[in-house]
Amino acid sequence: MSVLPATERVLLGPGPSLMAPRVMRALGAPMLSHLDPDFVPLMDDVRHGLRRLFRADEQAFALAVSGTGTSGMETAVANTVREGSRVVSVVTGYFGDRLAQMCERYGARLRRVDVEWGRACDPEALRRVLKEEGADVVTFVHAETSTGVRNDAAALAAVAREHGALTIADMVTSLGGHPVEVEQWGIDVAYSCTQKCIGAPSGLAPVVVSGAAKSRVMAGDAPRCRSFYLDLRLLEDYWVNRKYHHTMSASLIYALREALLMIDEETQDARWARHQRHHQAFAAGLSAMGLSLLPPADERLWTLNAIRVPDGIDEAAVRRTLLQRFNIEIGAGLGPLAGKIWRVGLMGAGSTPQSVVLLLGALDAALAAQGRAVAPGAGVAAASAALA
Ligand SMILES: Cc1ncc(COP(=O)(O)O)c(C=O)c1O
Repeated sequence: MSVLPATERVLLGPGPSLMAPRVMRALGAPMLSHLDPDFVPLMDDVRHGLRRLFRADEQAFALAVSGTGTSGMETAVANTVREGSRVVSVVTGYFGDRLAQMCERYGARLRRVDVEWGRACDPEALRRVLKEEGADVVTFVHAETSTGVRNDAAALAAVAREHGALTIADMVTSLGGHPVEVEQWGIDVAYSCTQKCIGAPSGLAPVVVSGAAKSRVMAGDAPRCRSFYLDLRLLEDYWVNRKYHHTMSASLIYALREALLMIDEETQDARWARHQRHHQAFAAGLSAMGLSLLPPADERLWTLNAIRVPDGIDEAAVRRTLLQRFNIEIGAGLGPLAGKIWRVGLMGAGSTPQSVVLLLGALDAALAAQGRAVAPGAGVAAASAALA
């Protein structure tokens, strides 16, 4: 007979991240139906809480789509890209590529702006392409989880706007961990997930459409979305007008609402500062251990650390040691970075001094097990000094 996990895995990979006990308890609250009058105010809390978290304008429409981050991505694409739409996709890694592929599946005439994995996109590169052929839609990933790179979302959105293109921004690894300013940056459609910096289980995808973009994307005379499940107009009818569309999971909404309440209590500013502080302490520890991060310092995420695997080290064996001996999960590299990097997430409830010190100590031991001579404790000491 199979058994449920008895201990909590220390989730320090690219997601899911650790969850606060409060959020776990919310999952176990009694079931309500998706149209129960007592459920409706909870949906409203989530809708308004997400709009505030995305920092979108008062007229914007925010909701949580039933599905993981990829369903948020597909909602953004399915409601904006039609057969023959001119789409320019900035590709700085695995998820930028997924977004581009998805646009193609929805009939886009696609032009890619490919950037070396591990670097952010220079907004000038996007400007050059848009000057040549324009675009109806521009897509980019704010926080590229496959490389640990942060793109300058404000600058990319500004270039897209200069050319009248609608912007789709993937904020899966930034929302709740890095500053996100949908209104100020002029982003039209953005999406995220619940299992990373927000600190809830996977299964819902926050999506926001700005007030300005609503008239282009969700107006009655806009072309009909090809997907029934992800049609924003039908979803608005459910979320706002309470018209049945699908049987949303009340448990996931309870958990997301609890996680959003925790963000409100902490405040967004304090939360961003916490993610920055723990990233910096972790980076100081890595550096003291002779390890380096893939992106240049000013392009790094605080939420996802892409660590170069040193020569002669068996990448997978280190992850195995962390998991089997220390109960810690970290992630492997994707695509061309497979075998070359480890990916460490310090997100949501996992962005703590304990995570930083625990992982550096365990990494020390896992590297020593492969005969790599590092000054024992140097990483922990440097991180502790940074935290102090
Ligand atoms: C940047 C980015 N976009 C999209 C996704 C897809 O999210 P999910 O795996 O929840 O479908 C991920 C997942 O890690 C991601 O990191």
